[in-house]
Amino acid sequence: MKTVRTRAELEQSLGGVDRKRVGFVPTMGALHAGHLSLVKRAKEECGTVVVSVFVNPTQFNDPKDLENYPRDEKRDLELLGEAGADVVFMPGVAEMYPEPDTRVFEFGELDKVMEGATRPGHFNGVAQVVSKLFAMVRPAKAFFGEKDFQQIAIVKAMVEGLDEKPEIVPCPIVREADGLAMSSRNTLLTPEHRAAAPKIYKAMSEGVGKMGEMTPAEVERFVMDTINSEPLLEVIYFKIVDALTLKPVENWADSVAIQGCAAVRAGEVRLIDNIRFV
Ligand code: PAJ
Repeated sequence: MKTVRTRAELEQSLGGVDRKRVGFVPTMGALHAGHLSLVKRAKEECGTVVVSVFVNPTQFNDPKDLENYPRDEKRDLELLGEAGADVVFMPGVAEMYPEPDTRVFEFGELDKVMEGATRPGHFNGVAQVVSKLFAMVRPAKAFFGEKDFQQIAIVKAMVEGLDEKPEIVPCPIVREADGLAMSSRNTLLTPEHRAAAPKIYKAMSEGVGKMGEMTPAEVERFVMDTINSEPLLEVIYFKIVDALTLKPVENWADSVAIQGCAAVRAGEVRLIDNIRFV
């Protein structure tokens, strides 16, 4: 496994490699089994696997969140070596943004809801960094976790505007044994909030079980009330949406794919999760 920190080194490390065989996994590090599942999937489908580790400042709308974001380069490299990554790209901020990125992306309705509505500028920052990384790595396939369900819709829309479009491969959410979706931010939870957090997935799963007797709006209410009944959790939103357009769903029969997406505050930490309804 090669570790590179500059664009020039990255280009050199991929010099002789046919980009049609390159799989790419962008991450912000503090890696866990969710990230590693993407690397393993990339390994299965692609000859050469590139992983980037870069905490992208432009996608953080809260400076405190950026400052507190967990970082552990040494452990990340160990885990990536075990998972079979071929090249790890770990650039610094100046390498990624030699000049400020002033590009503004247009996503229509996709970034006006849920994470887009509650974290202004977040998806523009994601699009900035992912488009730069795609231009540097030029992969045939890029692997993204469904944990960040809306991010996949944004990245798919973003690549539509690119000349070289990697295939975007969505990968299932990896969970802890108690149901909590794995996240780098879970390490920031207090023991009490960590103990409360599995309620998010539990409530969403119960919500799926209520589909026969409740409308989508009623299930939204039920899931929010169930999560909020845990005093250490506070729902930011729970929305039942069309999985492709992310538009609200009024009736279960209105869409062929329906997802429920939640953001929840657990003390200082903001957690997201989602579940398939249809
Ligand atoms: P990060 O949060 O580090 O996540 C990197 C990738 O791992 C994303 O595609 C994310 O959806 C996936 N992932 C995280 N937790 C997961 C889980 N429990 N199960 C499955 N996949 C999981 O997402 C980002 O970084 C950034 O926005 C990035 C795309 C790297 C751009 O900066």
